[in-house]
Amino acid sequence: MAILFSPFTLRGITFKNRIAVSPMSQYRAKNGHANSWHAVHLGRFAIGGAGLVYAEATAVEAEGRRTHGDLGLWQDAQIDDLKSITEFIGQEGAIPGIQLGHAGRKASERRPWHGETPVDHEDLAERNEVPWTAIAPSPIPYAEGWPAPMEMSETDIERVVAAFGESARRAHEAGFKIIEVYAAHGFLVHQFLSPIANQRRDRWGGNGENRRRFAVEVAKSIRANWPEAYPLAFRLSATDWLDGGIEVEDTVETAKALKAAGVDMIDCSSGGIGGKDRPRRMVIEQGFQVPFAERIRADAEMATMAVGFLWDANVCEDLVSAGKADMIALARELLADPNWPLHTAKELEADENHGMWPIESGWWLMKRDRLLSKLGVR
Ligand SMILES: Cc1cc2nc3c(=O)[nH]c(=O)nc-3n(C[C@H](O)[C@H](O)[C@H](O)COP(=O)(O)O)c2cc1C
Repeated sequence: MAILFSPFTLRGITFKNRIAVSPMSQYRAKNGHANSWHAVHLGRFAIGGAGLVYAEATAVEAEGRRTHGDLGLWQDAQIDDLKSITEFIGQEGAIPGIQLGHAGRKASERRPWHGETPVDHEDLAERNEVPWTAIAPSPIPYAEGWPAPMEMSETDIERVVAAFGESARRAHEAGFKIIEVYAAHGFLVHQFLSPIANQRRDRWGGNGENRRRFAVEVAKSIRANWPEAYPLAFRLSATDWLDGGIEVEDTVETAKALKAAGVDMIDCSSGGIGGKDRPRRMVIEQGFQVPFAERIRADAEMATMAVGFLWDANVCEDLVSAGKADMIALARELLADPNWPLHTAKELEADENHGMWPIESGWWLMKRDRLLSKLGVR
């Protein structure tokens, strides 16, 4: 039996297989509320056989949205729109998860297809979308042409840490069974972790322990509001790919500190911190971030998820069976083929007769297969 299709348990939650839908922002929410787009977008991956379906980056406060279209869980009124989505995902045998985040200095940004540049008066004229002032550990702009964010005060930090906890409580009420904190790709938690974005001189910046403090406090705040039996994960950028930025050794220490604060799994991504320099040393090839998952799993002795440019069934099977990661996450491959897990199960001989498919499709496909083989077509 392929290990990719063996169950995996974190705390009281068992995923039926090792395949996760990586969080994918849709920029389709209105005032942070989910709608039928999110239901269909996420629902098709549950039908397609993924074991864990993560909802996209979801803002813990309105100002923490990256774009006007981001999902949010900053108020109770946003819970109900997500309930039917988690129910459907669960009914189809997948575990519903949510990624909680805060954009920090990357807030007030245009959607990718509107340029990924700061929102300004043009957006107001075209889409009635107003820009807002971003906050960050230090008043350093994300990139050239971006406004400087406001440096966060102690009160701001306390408020955002508490907001993660409040959103976790709402995520529980909405029916999610695992939370992933978005601490990668240059968003707020990553901004605190990276010396490129965090140049504070107080207890929130400077040495590694101080830079990690915000992430650890976020983890504790969530743990205080999230059932003991439910897992908590963090997505980290294992390296900034930049001189003077985070290296994998720092990330191992961060993972250890998070583990002590009740975090169960690290989703190992990289990059995105921004700044003046282009990322260096980065070679994009299939599974290029897998070595980070392997290293963190071994050195921090905790579960990891591998992500980034994965699509081949055998590559994914081999990396999990070699103990490089406990789970894999796919984004673009699943956009191209939401049934990737089911097709992969067939390819790896974990599902011969469409038995893993929902009966409403599997029954017909099995009959069609018999007919096709009688006709000698396949
Ligand atoms: C449409 C789209 C939206 C994304 N939104 C998020 C997000 O909300 N949070 C996140 O951590 N990563 C996000 N990502 C990154 C993916 O989760 C994933 O890490 C990345 O695409 C690499 O995996 P892939 O090669 O399988 O696509 C997004 C990617 C895509 C394609």
